[in-house]
Amino acid sequence: MHVLVLGAAAGGGFPQWNCNCPLCRGQREGSLEATPRTQSSIAISSDGERWLLCNASPDIRAQLNANPELHPRKIPRDSGISGVLLVDAQIDHTTGLLSLREGCPFDVWCTPNVHQDLSSGFPLFTMLEHWGGLNWQPIAIDDNHLEAAFEIPACPGLAFTAVALSSNAPPYSPRRGAPTPGDNIGLLIEDRTRGTRLFYGPGLGRLDDRVRAYLAQADCVLVDGTLWHDDELIRAGVGKSTGTDMGHLALAGAGGLLEELDRLSPATRRVLIHINNTNPILDEGSPQRATLAEAGIEVAFDGMRLEI
Ligand code: MLT
Ligand code: MN
Ligand code: ZN
Repeated sequence: MHVLVLGAAAGGGFPQWNCNCPLCRGQREGSLEATPRTQSSIAISSDGERWLLCNASPDIRAQLNANPELHPRKIPRDSGISGVLLVDAQIDHTTGLLSLREGCPFDVWCTPNVHQDLSSGFPLFTMLEHWGGLNWQPIAIDDNHLEAAFEIPACPGLAFTAVALSSNAPPYSPRRGAPTPGDNIGLLIEDRTRGTRLFYGPGLGRLDDRVRAYLAQADCVLVDGTLWHDDELIRAGVGKSTGTDMGHLALAGAGGLLEELDRLSPATRRVLIHINNTNPILDEGSPQRATLAEAGIEVAFDGMRLEI
């Protein structure tokens, strides 16, 4: 399977428009070795022609323009995007649907929880009915076993399993602070032709043995690099929430994601995505970035291409 990283940053992007933290400021001033990143989105394809957009970010217009694979090719109104899948209902993963309105109707795969939030607190499904609507393709989640794999017509040969993750529902959800299975999913995607697997999970709040078992099956994990420290936003003076509050497991510290990634087979490719603008790994000269390099962990960037 082919994977295109369209946006590697978390909500707000890097640099964030109103953020004056040392990283955002350093990037703007050119005093740091740090590459700007747009908000969280990837595209997946089995044939290199038809692409499934996984999360539609507010930066989608620039992301589509930047990737020739996704440009219109054949008919007067056309796109390399053949469908959209959402892993949650957060603003950074869904607002791009508004910018795709000219292409309605199109298929959107998401869980019942996400569909409910996007039909009430943030009613994208309802609003877009005025442009021809979105065809909801419900995703069943699989919290225990692998039988629930589903297929997406645009991606022949790929089998998708939605893995319920413990993270958080968005602020406009009635389940904020008390998420239920389906508010956040990861995807185990198997290429049945190549016999390879990707695990994609930009919002990993907590891992348990069930989730670890999915990660352990993957040849490549593309996972939550939101924060280095759980209290990073507070330390930087830019927010009040911890990673625990937001549903993002920090990389450092006891029980952190670095420890989790260290458990994987050395052959597993490890790539971080959904990186918040306060995370020191964005500074390529930082000790934290050196720690990742030593551990063989990559940091996704806009335009990164993965072959799995
Ligand atoms: C999250 O990943 O927790 C959210 O996208 C944060 C946000 O952008 O509001
Ligand atoms: Mn996010
Ligand atoms: Zn910042």
